[in-house]
Amino acid sequence: MQFAYAKNGATVKADALIVPLFEGAASFKDYAYGDKLKKLFPKDDFDGKAGQTLVLPANSAVSATRVVLLGLGKRAKASAQSFGEALAGFFRGGNKFKHVAIALDSVVGLKNTGAEQVGRWAAEGVLLGGYSFDVLITKKDKKKQQATKITLAGGPEAQLKKGVAYGSATAEYTAHARDLVNEPSNRINPATLSKFAQDMARKIPGLTCKVLKKADLQRLKMGALLAVNAGSDIPAHVIILEWKGGTKTEKPIAFVGKGLTFDSGGYDIKPAAGMLGMKMDMGGGAATIAALGAIAKLKLKVNAVGIVPTTENLINGSAYHPGAVITSMSGQTIEIGNTDAEGRLALCDALTYTQKNYKPRVIVDMATLTGAQVVALGGKCVGLMTNDDKLAKSLEESFDAVGENCWRLPLHDFYDKQLDTPIADMKNIGGNPGTITAGLFLQRFIDEGQKWAHLDIAGPAMNDGEGFRLWAARSATGSPVRSLVQFAETYK
Ligand code: BES
Ligand code: MN
Ligand code: ZN
Repeated sequence: MQFAYAKNGATVKADALIVPLFEGAASFKDYAYGDKLKKLFPKDDFDGKAGQTLVLPANSAVSATRVVLLGLGKRAKASAQSFGEALAGFFRGGNKFKHVAIALDSVVGLKNTGAEQVGRWAAEGVLLGGYSFDVLITKKDKKKQQATKITLAGGPEAQLKKGVAYGSATAEYTAHARDLVNEPSNRINPATLSKFAQDMARKIPGLTCKVLKKADLQRLKMGALLAVNAGSDIPAHVIILEWKGGTKTEKPIAFVGKGLTFDSGGYDIKPAAGMLGMKMDMGGGAATIAALGAIAKLKLKVNAVGIVPTTENLINGSAYHPGAVITSMSGQTIEIGNTDAEGRLALCDALTYTQKNYKPRVIVDMATLTGAQVVALGGKCVGLMTNDDKLAKSLEESFDAVGENCWRLPLHDFYDKQLDTPIADMKNIGGNPGTITAGLFLQRFIDEGQKWAHLDIAGPAMNDGEGFRLWAARSATGSPVRSLVQFAETYK
C-alpha cells in the first residue's frame, strides 16, 4: 500500500474521495467544497451515523470519480479512533477503487486528537479493515479487491506521515499474526512457525531469533512441553525473539505465547465441532511473534523478549496418557487430569525458562487457553489475570488506547486448592471457573515477586462474526498485537 499526501481533497484525481462527516447536515461546512457536494443526494439518504457509508458518482465539486460519504457519528463523541473504525468498516467490504483519497478536514481538528493520531488510525483502519486471507484462493474474482494507493488530503503532512509510519507498522505485523492464525495446520506447524519467526527477524535490523530444538528441550528438562509433544511426529520447538532497544542494564519485558499449531485434545479427544477450529490454538504465539516484530520495526526504546513454546497436540502411539504424571522444568510434578488441558503444560515450561534466563521486569503470557473464557467474556473481550494491580491498570489502559477490550478476572487462592491431587504436586485441571483455575495453574510456575499477567484470548483470537472495530470478518483478529505494542511503549 502506498500512502501519498495532498493539501486539498477536492483536487485529487482519485477513483474515490472519502468524505468523513459527522451526524447533522452542518458538518458539510467542514469542507470548502461541502455545499457543492451536498447537492449530490437527497436530504434523507445520509445522516452521518457512525459507520454509515454512501457511494455516489461525483459532481464538479471534486476531481475524483466517486464520492464516499463516511459517517462518524456525533462530533462530540468522535475521535481518531472512531474515524479509523469507520474507515475499517468501509474497507472491510472490499471495492474496486485502486486510488482512494481521504479528506481529513473534519477529523484533524477534533478535540483530543492530533494529526499524528489521525494518520495512525487512518493507516490501521485501511490496512486492517481491508485485510483478507486469500493466499489459498486461486480464483482471482473470489479475492477481496483493495486499493493500492491512499492519498490523505487536508492535514499537516509531517504529522500525518509520522502517524502513518506507526500505524502501517502495527497493521503490517497484526496482519502477519492474522495470517499465521488463518493458515491451516498442514501449512503452519512448529517447524514452519519457527521458520516464519526466523525469516521475520532476519528482515528487521537488531531483532534476533533463536529456536530451541527438541534435543535442547530434553536437555533443559521441559517435561511438560515434551509430554504434549509426545503424540506428534513433528518435534516441539521454543522460539525466542529478542529486541534490545533499551539500556544495557534494563531487564526486558517478556511476552510468552501459546503456540499449539493444532489441538486435537489428545486422548481426551475433542468432538468434531470443537476440533475444527483448532488451527487457531497458536494465536498467543502468533501475537507474541508479531508484537516483537512491530516493536523492533518501530525501534521502541525498550528491551523485550518473545518466547513461544510450539507443538501439536495429537495422538500417535506415543501420545501422553490421561493419568500420566510428568515432571515440569520447574521440578514440580503434574498429574494429567485431561490431555486437552495442554496449553498450560506448554506454557509452564516456557514461563520457567523465561524467568531463569531473563529475570524479566514483567511477564505477559497470552493463550487461547480455555473454552470457559469464551463463555465468560465472549469473542470481543480478553480475560486478564495478574498478580499486580499496577500491571492490570497498565494493560487495561493499553487495550483501551488501541480499541481492544480486556476484563480482569480474580486469582482467588481458594480456587487454587482445586489443582491439588494426592499423587503429585498438582493436576492440570482444576474444574470451574475454568479460566481462573487455568490462570492459577500458571501462577504456580511464577517466582515470588515476579510481576506477571496472563491473557486468555480463546474468544478474541478469531472473529467469527461480521467484523468488529478493525477486525476482518470471519477470520483471525491479530488481537492483542496492537495492545502489546502500546503496552511495551508505555509500561513503566
Ligand atoms: N485450545 C483449547 C481452548 C479453546 C477452546 C480455545 C475453544 C478456543 C476455543 C484448550 O487447549 C482446551 O482444550 N481447554 C480445555 C481445558 C479443559 C480440558 C480443562 C477447555 O477449555 O475445554
Ligand atoms: Mn486443548
Ligand atoms: Zn489448546
